Order: sequence, then C-alpha cells, then structure tokens
Amino acid sequence: MDSSRMELVTYMGHKNVFLFSSSGKMVMRTVDLRSDTVTKPTEAMRNAMANAEVDDDVLGYDPTAQRLEAEIARIMGKEAGLFVPSGTMGNLISVLTHCQIRGSEIILGDYSHIHIYENGGIATLGGVHPRTVKNNEDGTMDLDLIEAAIRDPSFEICYPTTRLICLENSHAHSGGRCLSAEYTDKVGELAKKYGLKLHIDGARIFNASVALGVPVHRLVRAADSVSVCLSKGLGAPVGSVVVGSKSFIAKAKILRKTLGGGMRQVGVLCAAAFIAFQENLVKLEGDHKKAKILAEELNKIKGLKVDIAAVETNIVYCDILKGSKISETEMCKTLEQHGLLILPEGPQRIRFVIHHQISENDVHYAASCVQRALAGVAEENGDK
Ligand SMILES: Cc1ncc(COP(=O)(O)O)c(C=O)c1O
Repeated sequence: MDSSRMELVTYMGHKNVFLFSSSGKMVMRTVDLRSDTVTKPTEAMRNAMANAEVDDDVLGYDPTAQRLEAEIARIMGKEAGLFVPSGTMGNLISVLTHCQIRGSEIILGDYSHIHIYENGGIATLGGVHPRTVKNNEDGTMDLDLIEAAIRDPSFEICYPTTRLICLENSHAHSGGRCLSAEYTDKVGELAKKYGLKLHIDGARIFNASVALGVPVHRLVRAADSVSVCLSKGLGAPVGSVVVGSKSFIAKAKILRKTLGGGMRQVGVLCAAAFIAFQENLVKLEGDHKKAKILAEELNKIKGLKVDIAAVETNIVYCDILKGSKISETEMCKTLEQHGLLILPEGPQRIRFVIHHQISENDVHYAASCVQRALAGVAEENGDK
C-alpha cells in the first residue's frame, strides 16, 4: 500500500495505527495472520485464471488440470495425481480408497487434522473406524504405540481390520513441526510389515520439505498416497492434489465423483496453482524466517511465552501466561481492534500463521500490536 504517513490515533477507545494514503485517505492497517489460507490471488494468478486453457475435466479433457496433476505427481515421486477441491476431500478420498471395506480401521494421531477437524467424515461417510495414537509434541507418534494399535487379524471375529496408518507433515496442531524422512520411512516399514498402507496428510508438505532441506519426494517415499494442499503455504486460492499409484488414483477418481468433487472447467483453478508454485515456493524459506522473528519478538513480551525451538515452519503458537489476566478469545478480539487478525488455539494459547502476503514489517507491527494490547490490559487492571 502506498502510504505517506503513519499515525497512532485513538479509535473506538483503542490506540490504532492508521495509514494515510498519498491521497490523504485514512485506512486502518490490517495484518491477517489467522491462517495461510487467507491469501488473496495475485495479479498473475488472476491473469492465468482468466486465460486458462480448459475443457470438461469430469470427462477427462481439461488440459490444465491434466498438466498440474502430472507435474505434482512427478514432483512428489508418484505415478499419478488427482485435483480435488479441498484438503479435507483429499484426505477423505485417500482414506476411503485405501479402506474400501466398511468397518476398516485406521491408525492416526489424536491431534491429527483428519481426526479433529474433518467432521469425522471417514466414519460418517466411509464407515471407517479411527484408532488414535497419542501425538507427541513434535507431531510424531511413537512407533511402539503405533505397532501396539495394529489389530490382531486372528481375532477378526471381534476386532475391526487395520488397513491404514496416517501421518501429517507438517503437523498443524503441534505448531507446524516437521516429520523427518527417516521417521516416515520407519512408519512405512511398520505398515509394510503388517500389510497396511501409509497415507500422508501433506497439507503443508512443501513447508516441511523446505524447513528440513529434504526434497519433497524423499519425504513421502514410504507413502502410498499423499494429499498436498495448494491453498495453504503455497498460496493458491483453491485446491489440493492427491498423489499415488495409477491404480490408486483411478479408484480415487471414482470416489471424487461420488463425493461431488468432480468439477468441469477446473483448469481455471489449476492455472492459479501453477502460478502459486512459480511465485511462492521460493518464498517459504522467508516465511519460516519471519515466523521465527515473530516468535522471538513475542517471547520478549512480558506475559507471553513462545517455544522458539518448536517454530520450524510458518506457524507460531504463543501461550498467554496466567498473570496476564486476558483469555485467548479476549486477546483475539482486542487485537482485531488494532487491525491484527489471529485465532485462538485452545486455553491461553493463540496462533499466528505467516504466508506469502506478510512482510517482515507486518511481523514487527503484529508484535507491537500484541505488546500494546497487553499493556492496555495491564493499565485497565492498574498494574505497574
Ligand atoms: C494439516 C491439514 N490438513 C488438512 C486440511 C484441510 O484442508 P481444507 O481446508 O482445504 O479442507 C488443513 C486445513 O487447514 C490442514 O491444516
């Protein structure tokens, strides 16, 4: 935004930073750190969407969708890909494709996105029984706990049959922490030993790849399927791609249609995703650096605590210490009045997510908003 002046003005009883554009118009600055899903399509994305070469993708003729699916499958080291409307549908289709027999059981983290945030779709729509294993703080599940959770097939008269293990990389609920290739391989070996499949929710797999410095195909080598979100760290407006073997994707395609995820001239969306790759993949490292800067600045503020070492990618979890006398929801509301948008992440915890439309300056501004909000609370409470 072109701004000639920046001033601190009292507005609605709060001190806000206002920008004055060159025309003198006053606009409140908004920094949106709710999620990496809040990005707006760039000019190049909008142009690519307008000019996309398209055809009917349900009939299998959309050239832009076909190119995107093939390209992502190649990058991920898998045979084939399938564009789907969302990460939720990508995970659902993957789980149901691996578990075609109703009553199948899958092993997944108790804090995995599939288990907590996807409406229990695998159970309600697919008759799949979830068996959770505790997620450690780094997003892993202990290998011995996974092994212990695999059902003994000789007692199938009572037990559901285990068919799949799911991992999530990066692991959102642990603050975007990364699973190493070695760990993923070990889970893959375990899956093979028991004749199970391995699915990775790779909503932010590119963030993990950049943070670990490991090519993405290496990170997912042990997986039979991966759901890759284009609309998270990569910053495309819509969509995910599921990758796996040709036969897996052929079955997944039928399920996509069943679930209403077959879209006609979908190349319009895929064209934007291509631009997201070109423009934003190279920015992920910078996003992670900005997340670290934010973590360090927040951690310096009295009343807050951030585990800086746990900030590996673009997500920052920040704990509000008891003495601060403000809850996570009150904090979010107060910050909104300062033009800073964030989300609560459970009791006394708030989260900040960096994306490609956040500058280093925005990060400093965000930290200063939090500092002012906490100072305001302390003033109201008459604290010194
Ligand atoms: C780890 C993870 N998996 C899957 C999803 C689901 O993606 P979508 O919102 O596109 O359905 C999300 C969404 O934020 C996510 O964070």
